[in-house]
Amino acid sequence: MKVLVTGGLGFIGSHTVVELQKEGYEVLIVDNLENSSRDVLDGITRITGVKPEFYELDLKYKTAIEVLCAEHPDLAGVIHFAANKAVGESVQHPLKYYKNNINSLVYLLEELIKLKNKNFIFSSSCTVYGEADELPITENAAVKPAESPYGNTKQIGEEIISDVCNINNDFKAVALRYFNPIGAHPSAEIGELPLGVPQNLVPFITQTAMGLREKLSVFGGDYPTPDGTCIRDYIHVVDLAKAHVVALERLLNNQQESNLEVFNLGTGKGSSVLEVIDSFERVSGEKLRYEITDRRTGDVVSAYAETSRAKNVLGWETQLSLDDAMASAWKWEQKIRN
Ligand code: WQD
Repeated sequence: MKVLVTGGLGFIGSHTVVELQKEGYEVLIVDNLENSSRDVLDGITRITGVKPEFYELDLKYKTAIEVLCAEHPDLAGVIHFAANKAVGESVQHPLKYYKNNINSLVYLLEELIKLKNKNFIFSSSCTVYGEADELPITENAAVKPAESPYGNTKQIGEEIISDVCNINNDFKAVALRYFNPIGAHPSAEIGELPLGVPQNLVPFITQTAMGLREKLSVFGGDYPTPDGTCIRDYIHVVDLAKAHVVALERLLNNQQESNLEVFNLGTGKGSSVLEVIDSFERVSGEKLRYEITDRRTGDVVSAYAETSRAKNVLGWETQLSLDDAMASAWKWEQKIRN
């Protein structure tokens, strides 16, 4: 069966392509290479032995997806990752985010509702919850006013899909709300490739240990948490990738309870910034240079998933630990710098 993966050369997209190919799916990748590189295609091929079909297309241009869907009317499903995802950049350039993340989604949906198979998986984010009122965070937690245009595009994206599902009862969608994806494929053939100075914690840690960054700034040590640093739910990207295959098969096997379902994807365990640093030092044997500095605007104090719905309904749960993820991130960093 043929599956279209948009943004398939990105961090989560590439790891999902590997898991789809391992399950025997034929994968088509669309990517505009704005935040990725063709080298990722070679990395995927080295892991699975199968080179996915790749189209360098930009989904913000409507004709791109029209041509693609016309050439592949038999797609079994679509997994939509293609979007800009840097929170800070979205604050500085909101229209770039609305144009790319929203227009691409609308153009894609316009074509998909014409196809025979209408199975759609949307890459969403725990960002939609903001600072949740209760922890751990369930799927019923209130969607809070977005803290950034990036987060707003995820909220708007879910609402657009909901409206499409309401008027197309044969259109079936799953929105996957990721917590914090980290790590890399154990082969170190693919991983996270931040462009420029990393905004996210784990690539900044590994680049500091590699000597590319002078030291890590820990944004705030005075939060109301056990060690004063923020808490997040760090999920290994391979576990996250596998969840997309499980969600796709739920759609293909018509197992859904409604034609739009939402699942939180996390470990269910919160880890503080200092605990992540400890994990890194333990698995790498490296001493990390860091300094506790001021808080970062927009950070929530604590966010981690309530995982029973993913486990009992979706039939998926994480298998890998924080140490596994940090070890894979370090192995990847060493690989790309040598
Ligand atoms: C994690 C923790 C920082 C960098 C973002 C997006 C979210 C998702 C994941 C896309 C926080 C601290 C970080 C640093 C630090 N992305 N930190 N020093 O902000 O939880 O989530 O990425 O879907 O949508 O919002 O991730 O990795 O930036 O930060 O102390 O140099 O690490 O304060 O507590 P975040 P992050």
